[in-house]
Amino acid sequence: MTVITHVKSAAQIVTMKGASDAPKRGEAMSDIGLIENGSVVLVGDRIAFVGSDGDAADFLETFEGDIRLIDASGKIVTPGLVDPHTHVVYAGSREKEFEMRLQGAKYIDMLKQGGGILSTTRSTREAGLGQLIEQAHVRLDRFLLHGVTTVEAKSGYGLTVEDEVKQLEAARRLQRIHPIDIVPTFMGAHAIPVEYRGRADEYVQLIIERMIPLVSQLKLAEFCDVFCEEGVFTVEQSRKILEAGKSYGLKPKIHADEIVQTGGAELAAEVGAVSAEHLLQASDAGIQALANSNTIAVLLPATALFLMEKPARARKMIDEGVAVTLSTDCNPGTSPTQSLPFVMNIACLTMRMTPAEVLAAATINAAHAICRADQIGSIEAGKKADLVLFDAPNYQTLQYNFAVNLVHTVIKNGEIAVEGGVLIANGKHASN
Ligand code: NIG
Ligand code: FE
Repeated sequence: MTVITHVKSAAQIVTMKGASDAPKRGEAMSDIGLIENGSVVLVGDRIAFVGSDGDAADFLETFEGDIRLIDASGKIVTPGLVDPHTHVVYAGSREKEFEMRLQGAKYIDMLKQGGGILSTTRSTREAGLGQLIEQAHVRLDRFLLHGVTTVEAKSGYGLTVEDEVKQLEAARRLQRIHPIDIVPTFMGAHAIPVEYRGRADEYVQLIIERMIPLVSQLKLAEFCDVFCEEGVFTVEQSRKILEAGKSYGLKPKIHADEIVQTGGAELAAEVGAVSAEHLLQASDAGIQALANSNTIAVLLPATALFLMEKPARARKMIDEGVAVTLSTDCNPGTSPTQSLPFVMNIACLTMRMTPAEVLAAATINAAHAICRADQIGSIEAGKKADLVLFDAPNYQTLQYNFAVNLVHTVIKNGEIAVEGGVLIANGKHASN
């Protein structure tokens, strides 16, 4: 029988309504569609109604049978958070490199010396499919506990045909067994593997001639991403890979202008990328190019913090009309976190985004950055029943009471996935 759920008496509902066709830009990012003392009615796995408590009572009169009541008094309700950029499927960890960086070692130098991404590539190649799934499952649970109901997940720690497929296959199986929705991205162009050192163009050929066709044939990914960076993939190589991906139906994304300014933002606009990510060093011209394009800027302030670098110029981007979203960048090297709410906190504190803007960024704009805005990212009738109830009386408190997890309840596809801050598995409180 279809379950009807009535989330009632919320202090505030952040609906984000009206932006399913295009991401929010500029001042529209502050228009978060707030409803005070409101209700949301879910029918099965879909949102059926959002509005005042009074109107909800009228709406519910047409329904017979049991209605599950969730009291949201004193809480705010938001759309399920969306993380549009993660590397959540990997094996191992790199806490020793973190310590080395604190002592002065540079991230990109460690990669050049065979560490960094290449260190995680070794552990990911060694791991079996089951181990990869097990380790990523734990991280997905943590995402859920922090209110995230959809994540993008990149490959890029395999760097061989078989290992890239293994990583994407792990994502596909996790999608089947975990409540979180996973949107897969092929990122064979994450690093030049050691066996191709000095032969980068040959590795690019392997990506274009073997990996992309196979990933497309097996329907393992929806997007293709490239680490366009000095010492990794050049603008020219990145363009070739992304164009090849496009010809196989993989939509382009770019890790752009993260460490050195290479013109990655400009390239993203040129190839019609869905998103340009990082952008710490994006030039004024690059920001203008993004503002004049449909490419969304995915900003990763936790990565900047963890690399101890200056964050992206979010204020300039928003004020100049770039569509901006936020993400954890969850990965073992530059951002080992699953807390998107914390990323929102530091977006306020280090990039001066406002409490309203970070909410728009982590919901509807993030949904656009993974081409899912018709399904998720706002609380509107017809969309997926993905909601978060936060222990906060208003949306500003989410950023003000920072670095604590205020998630009380998470509803994913109409099912309660987190209750009282505790994970629920098959209707029961899970052990972790
Ligand atoms: O988004 N910059 C490239 N990729 C990741 C880091 C991956 C890693 O260090 O393992 C990022 O920062
Ligand atoms: Fe990344």
